[in-house]
Amino acid sequence: MKSQKNIVLFGFMGAGKSAVAAALGKRLGLPVVEMDAIIEEREGISISRIFSEKGEGYFRIRERELVRELSGKAGLIIATGGGVVLDPDNIRDLGETGLLICLRARPPVIMKRVEEETHRPLLEVPDRPAVIRQKLEARRPFYDRIDHQIDTSDLTVAEVTDRIIDIYRGGTGSR
Ligand code: S3P
Repeated sequence: MKSQKNIVLFGFMGAGKSAVAAALGKRLGLPVVEMDAIIEEREGISISRIFSEKGEGYFRIRERELVRELSGKAGLIIATGGGVVLDPDNIRDLGETGLLICLRARPPVIMKRVEEETHRPLLEVPDRPAVIRQKLEARRPFYDRIDHQIDTSDLTVAEVTDRIIDIYRGGTGSR
């Protein structure tokens, strides 16, 4: 029997990966895997503490290991962390067993969505809007490499979910 593809969500912080992954899991009856949550659980500390106590490099190694592990599985909804795209090997591995979707949003929309949140070490900076703009720009070529692109700025979670299910079931619906 052919195994069921994973659905892998990429995108910048605040693009909607977690909300859409949860909705997809419910709609399709598939387990949802939050990469950051697994890393936190295994390390026994928050992502912020991993960054401050062990460094971003350490976090990226743990992230890479988890990608390799998840790429060997099937039938999962995987919400990646916003930086997983930075390593092309991650995209290659996840693409072997998964449908790859990148969620996008305009910078002001991202800013609004992350406004009240404090759990992202890369955004705990004095000038958050400037850092968001700068990182979005620097990462654009990496996000652009993902097969399917959905701009979530003006869509509800349900609408984004519908589009992804359409692609998953063989429709088109993106790019
Ligand atoms: C990161 C995004 C975060 C988390 C870590 C680094 C990034 O995940 O993995 O703080 O480099 O963009 P979310 O995109 O789920 O916030």
